[in-house]
Amino acid sequence: EKGGFRSFMEKEIHDQPKAVADTLLGRMDVSGRLVLDELRIDESVLRAVDKIVVVACGTAAYAGHVAKYAIEHWCRIPVEVELAHEFRYRDPVVNERTLVVAVSQSGETMDTLMAVRHASEQGATTLAIVNTHGSTIPRESDAVLYTHAGPEIAVASTKAFLSQITAAYLLGLYLAQLRGNKFPDEIAATLADLREMPGKIQQVLDRAERVREVARWMADSPAVLFLGRHVGFPVALEGALKLKELAYIHAEGFAAGELKHGPIALIEPGQPVFVIVPSPRGRDSLHSKVVSNIQEIRARGARTLVVAEDGDEAVVPYADEVFRVPQTSTLLAPLLTVVPLQIFASELANAKGLDVDQPRNLAKSVTVE
Ligand code: M6R
Repeated sequence: EKGGFRSFMEKEIHDQPKAVADTLLGRMDVSGRLVLDELRIDESVLRAVDKIVVVACGTAAYAGHVAKYAIEHWCRIPVEVELAHEFRYRDPVVNERTLVVAVSQSGETMDTLMAVRHASEQGATTLAIVNTHGSTIPRESDAVLYTHAGPEIAVASTKAFLSQITAAYLLGLYLAQLRGNKFPDEIAATLADLREMPGKIQQVLDRAERVREVARWMADSPAVLFLGRHVGFPVALEGALKLKELAYIHAEGFAAGELKHGPIALIEPGQPVFVIVPSPRGRDSLHSKVVSNIQEIRARGARTLVVAEDGDEAVVPYADEVFRVPQTSTLLAPLLTVVPLQIFASELANAKGLDVDQPRNLAKSVTVE
């Protein structure tokens, strides 16, 4: 059942190319146009949407956080991402023109369900991005876009995360297509890039031996920090969450730009810091800003573990380790850069002799508020 892997989590990490491929499957026609008739929301309702609010918890919320960058860019609709339990207990501005997107692997997370109910009461349209068929959240939502990741058994979410990002991206591209915000060529090009992702994720898996070695050496680390910028920021948060929940190591993710506003004080000689580096071929000065951050922490003695694209030589002088991922666009990179972080956490927990699939104090689906 574990397919020869030591844990379900390891198996599920290796299922990721298929999880993404299956989530894309059947959602485009032969001409490369997105077809999401399964949503069954009136097109006029989707055209009128003036705000999207993503509600979710844990890893699913980080998927929403990644999707915000893409959806705002493609659709020019403001997107807020909120932890479902926080959303529910304030007085959020939600109305008939709000699309509330609930992201959940299990479809049973009580906090997320309560947020959906609250949004429905305010007249919002609710859409569930969920993995488990027949679960409660899609039943109580106006529409559902299923992720096709297959059953996720390990408590730590991995393949669900990649499929949630994929599904949320499909939603964003579909809204852009529907609302005529982007040229059809750009949507088609992004879909073509998405179709290449399963092969690229496989390449990251094929090259993961070094990540495992480093994880084993680092089994005694008391704390690990993660830095990212733009879509790399939620990836950093996710890398830290994986390490906390699996290896019980104090881990924190930061927006790289925030370093000088406080967190850099944590850097002392030997402190391991993962840095998620954006593509040097991407927009603006994102890449050079992050390279400067690596330089700054290295100068203060940090041990820098850098996740960077193939061919990015600028990071080499400041990196103690470089974990390479294939080239892709800035927005699609999270589907690759998170994979070494998942493997790192899983391998480190394994090296500590911990139960990777059943971390202490946690349940796979949190059905109480
Ligand atoms: O089933 P859900 O996606 O709604 O679950 C949300 C979180 O409880 C979940 O992602 C949790 O954070 C995982 N243990 C993370 O690995």
